Amino acid sequence: MDMDKLRHAAEVLKGGGLVAFPTETVYGLGADALNETAVRGIFEAKGRPSDNPLIVHISDKNDVDCLVKEIPSEAGLLMDEFWPGPLTLVMYKSPAVPSIISAGLDTVAIRMPSHPVAAALIRESGLPIAAPSANTSGRPSPTIVRHVIEDLSGRVDIIIDAGPANVGLESTVLDVTVTPPLILRPGGITREQLEGVIHGVGIDPALSARHSGNLKPKSPGMKYRHYSPKAEMILIVGGLQDVVGKIRNLAVDYRDKGRTVGILATEQTKEYYRDFKVISSGDRQRPETIASNLFRYLREFDSMGVDLILAEGIESVGIGLAVMNRMSKAAGYNIIKA
Ligand code: TXA
Ligand code: MG
Repeated sequence: MDMDKLRHAAEVLKGGGLVAFPTETVYGLGADALNETAVRGIFEAKGRPSDNPLIVHISDKNDVDCLVKEIPSEAGLLMDEFWPGPLTLVMYKSPAVPSIISAGLDTVAIRMPSHPVAAALIRESGLPIAAPSANTSGRPSPTIVRHVIEDLSGRVDIIIDAGPANVGLESTVLDVTVTPPLILRPGGITREQLEGVIHGVGIDPALSARHSGNLKPKSPGMKYRHYSPKAEMILIVGGLQDVVGKIRNLAVDYRDKGRTVGILATEQTKEYYRDFKVISSGDRQRPETIASNLFRYLREFDSMGVDLILAEGIESVGIGLAVMNRMSKAAGYNIIKA
């Protein structure tokens, strides 16, 4: 880590500038959370709707105190177990948090990232840092710096490169203002891991249902079309053999119709699609490999000129729940049961 560069980036943050930086989940676009003008700059650079609140990033657990009204006891347990790391906690906000951060809600989302560069940058700035994912609104979150540059070049002051993000999907957003706490966005910390620490964890029902408009997600960001490649995407779910057969049939049909088809397969299945453009997202036995590659490969299909992605679903357990959430949204809920 180049400390001079880091100190310079911290100065830019203190002066109200925008800094894209690595975290363990995805790259973030940071600004001083207490400076309204700076935070407005984030919304402008991303083209982000103003009703979508931002996560505040800290480098020390004690920094939570002045941002929230109170820390529920379950939140304390979760912070001890999972911070620093990919868990964001939603709590009632203190008056110190500007309403542009919370998009007018009475809550604030807070996380303490574990990536050493993120931690050092926040510590060096001495500020709470507001940071959404460093992509143009609606696009897949960036997990490598090239994707940050693709989306935000010329719109931010500094972009820090620290190689690929490890988790590859965003943090889990957990609302701890309700009992039992509710997962608003599945992510890097799994439901199973949370349940190992606290008794009972719910999932916002709007996440599992195809979003028909009558269920409003509690996390405003989850209502937008999101994580989207430029290509159309169809997610195929079911038993593995059926999925492979269905995808092969669809691929032939669409190719005959003149479409450029890409298949998002896995290590276990890629051989079955040899006559198509195929990318293996990872190993079904190690779904964390699929999580860490997903966003990158969705963008890669775009650069391959693919206009229809046929993607294999995976099991919705562990990190698979977050993977399937992102794939479903990337597909605009265009899901076929094989
Ligand atoms: O891993 C991550 O969380 C990354 C890295 C950069 O830290 N950040 C990230 O931020 O994914 P963003 O802005 O792309 O997603 C934040 C999500 C959105 O769905 C937003 O609606 C939700 O968190 N959120 C933020 N504040 C909230 C609040 N007070 N209540 C409910 N949801 C909230
Ligand atoms: Mg985002």
